[in-house]
Parts: sequence; C-alpha cells; structure tokens
Amino acid sequence: MASRAHALLDVDRQPAPAIDGAALQVEIERVGRAIASERALGLAHPLRAAGRRAIQMTSADAQLRAALFRLVDVTPACRDVEDIGRHFASFAGELDGSRQVRLALALADNRAGRVILGRAVASGVRQTARRFIAGETPRAAGRELERLWRSGIATSVDLLGEVTVSAAEADAYALRCGQMLAEVGELARAWPAQPSLERDSLGPLPRANLSVKVSSLTPLLRPQAPALGVGDAARRLRPLLARARDLGAHVHIDMESLDSLEATVELALEVLGELAFRDGPSAGLVLQAYLQQSPALLERILDWAARTPRRVPLTVRLVKGAYWDHEVAVAHQHGWRVPVFTDKAECDRNFEALTRRLLDARPLVRVAVGSHNLRSIAHAIAYNRLRGGRDEDLELQVLRGLGDQLATALARHGVRVRVYTPVGDLVAGMAYLVRRLLENTSNESFLLAQQHGASLERLLTAP
Ligand code: 2OP
Repeated sequence: MASRAHALLDVDRQPAPAIDGAALQVEIERVGRAIASERALGLAHPLRAAGRRAIQMTSADAQLRAALFRLVDVTPACRDVEDIGRHFASFAGELDGSRQVRLALALADNRAGRVILGRAVASGVRQTARRFIAGETPRAAGRELERLWRSGIATSVDLLGEVTVSAAEADAYALRCGQMLAEVGELARAWPAQPSLERDSLGPLPRANLSVKVSSLTPLLRPQAPALGVGDAARRLRPLLARARDLGAHVHIDMESLDSLEATVELALEVLGELAFRDGPSAGLVLQAYLQQSPALLERILDWAARTPRRVPLTVRLVKGAYWDHEVAVAHQHGWRVPVFTDKAECDRNFEALTRRLLDARPLVRVAVGSHNLRSIAHAIAYNRLRGGRDEDLELQVLRGLGDQLATALARHGVRVRVYTPVGDLVAGMAYLVRRLLENTSNESFLLAQQHGASLERLLTAP
C-alpha cells in the first residue's frame, strides 16, 4: 500500500518557497519575543536557586567539575553515607585548597564528620536526580506523565539503563521496554483528549511514546563491526516494534556516541523498512547537528524515506547532540580529526540549515526539533510559518529538568511540545545525569547565558 506521505508527495509537493533572510529574522524575533513573554519562561531564572549556584560554581572551575562528576558517578555504588563522605574527601583532596575544600577535609577526619559530609552529598545527588528523572518505576512516573499531558505537554519516556554488557541484560531491558509501552498505553487511555497533541496533518499521533537506545538492546556494538551489533539488536527491536504497532504506540530510536552511529542508522533503516513494519508503528530516528557529517546523514535518511513506503512517515528528531565532551576527548586521545563542530556559531548555523532542510522535506518525514535554545526554536517555528506550514506539523522537544519552563511556555504559545522523560533508578541513570550536568556547566551553554541575564535581543541574534 502506498503511504499517505508518498501519495501527498506525488500530488501536493510544491518546491519550497524561497524565504527572504531579513523577513525570516523579523519573524524569528516576533516568535521569540512571544514565547519569552509567556509568564512561565523567566528568562533570567531558568534553574532553581541552589542548582543554579552549584552550576555556576562548577562551570567556573574545571578541576571541581571533574571531581564532582567522578563523585556523582561513584555515589550509587557507595556502601553507606560514611563511604560517600570518604570518597568526597578523597576527590576534594586532589583540588587546590579553597576554604570550603579545607573545611570538608577537616570534617572527613573522623567518622561523624564523614557521615555529615556523606549525607549532604547524597542528598545533593538525589535532588539532582529528581530534577531529571520522573520516577523510579513506570507507575510512579505515570503521575508525572499525566500531569504534563493535562497541562498540554506530551512526553517521550526513556527507560534508563544504557550500555548493556550481556545478552541476558539486553533481553531484560527489551522486555521492560515492552512492558513500559503497555503500561503507559494503559494509563494514557484514561487521559483526557488533547487534540493538538494527538494529531497532525498526516494523521494520529500516539499518546504512548518511548525513546530507546541501541546500546541497551545489544552488548555487541563495535564500531569496527557494526553488522554484529545490528543483527543482535534487531532480534530485540523487532518484537518491541511489533508490540508498539499492536498497542498503537511510538518508538523513537535515540542516537548515542559516534562509535555506534553506523550501527544505529543501519538498524533503524533496515528494520523499519521491513514489510512487517510498513503499516506501523509510528517510529523515529535522531539527527545530531553537532556532527560535521550530519547534512550527509540527513540526505541518506531522506533518500531512504523516499524509497521506502510506510503508512506513517519516519519522525526525525533534530538535536544538537549530547556527547560533545566524549567525542572531543576520544578524538584527542586517538589523534583523530574532531568529528563535531567546535565553534558554537558554526554548530548553530548547521542546526538551522538542517531544520530548514527537514521542514522542506515534509511530508516525507515528520519533524521534531529538540532544543533549549530560544533562537533555534523560534527559527524553526518562524521558518515553518513563513513557508506556509502549519504549527501542527512541527513538534518541539525539550529534556525534563532542563526545559520544563520552556515546555510550559511553548504549550501556552500553542505549539506541540514533548518532554523527554527518563524513568528509572539512580544507578541506571548515572551516565544520563552526568551528560545533563556537562551540558549545564559547559561555558557555551545557552542556559548559562540565560542565567547570566543575556538580553532577549542577543539570544535571538543570528548565529
Ligand atoms: C541522552 O540520553 C537525551 O538521548 C539523550 O543524553
């Protein structure tokens, strides 16, 4: 059966109208100001006070950043609070002695002091986790998913627990993903109608939406032999997709670090192209704009979409990318060319070029733009409107804990927004939390610019 997207492509597709750059900038500023004026978006205060102070402190000091990330990493494995206090003191001991560090070291001299230190650290880590993770179990997270839905915000659930190391672990993860889809689907049946979250001009949008990482579906991801990982992950992805199809849910295949990119793309395009999945489920892939190869990858995905009839077109989620530090460190370690844009403006310009290419490619694909950058978001909305697109055919996405206020403002502005919502425990979520902290403390972070009171005009300037 020819897909709706392909039928539309044959009969309706007009060449994209050329958009004048000056008119686009005027519209970006208009949209950006309208979003920022929604009361929810306190531009100068996107983070809670305590978190803000901690982030300002860590972003200013590379040594302290490194020590804190190591601490966050070991905390779940500590035996008790005294053990946490001991680790804290040992990391602090490697820092140049500020007054706070000397105080911490003095406290760690005896058991009672280590317990006090450990309690403080454990509570800090727990608070951070609560900000980014919606709940330990699907049931606990379900309340949060429903609360968001009722306030006009959709979600994509991410079951924490990337990088499996054995077949048994990957089997268990895939099983839990299927259960999660069923549970969210069941809960979502009781949610009230939200027409703007449930339909675009191509048809219905599932209420239950799961994001899944390929490194959780196979322990065999090897950059030198992507076929091995693809074959093994496909064995677990197929039943998950079949379950999603039967439940009417959406499955989104996340992108991770560059060493698994080829396997992830091959897996997604191979399995989603199979006859069994031509009629569903709704599914998607991620494009990371920080990768210099991202324009070529997008062409490859669009070429696949043009050749592969599916009833529900593939959703492409455009993001900046969450593994920047990792990619730079790995490239330096091996003496390789750095694969990501190291200049922020260049990366932002690429993000905007990919946004326009994606919006022009509809209805071959559905488009989701994931960003906390007001300029990138306003650009997507403005370009879509200027070229005659409808708001309902562009989805915005943000991360829980970083983009909560932005999500509320976007929902009030009347555009569809989805929050990426991790579910799971602290141990499973540690790698995820460290990525969020790195994003937050990077000197180039847009969130940091907001905290430092950057003017709206500057935030909306072309990169
Ligand atoms: C990550 O796990 C959001 O998929 C992204 O960092």
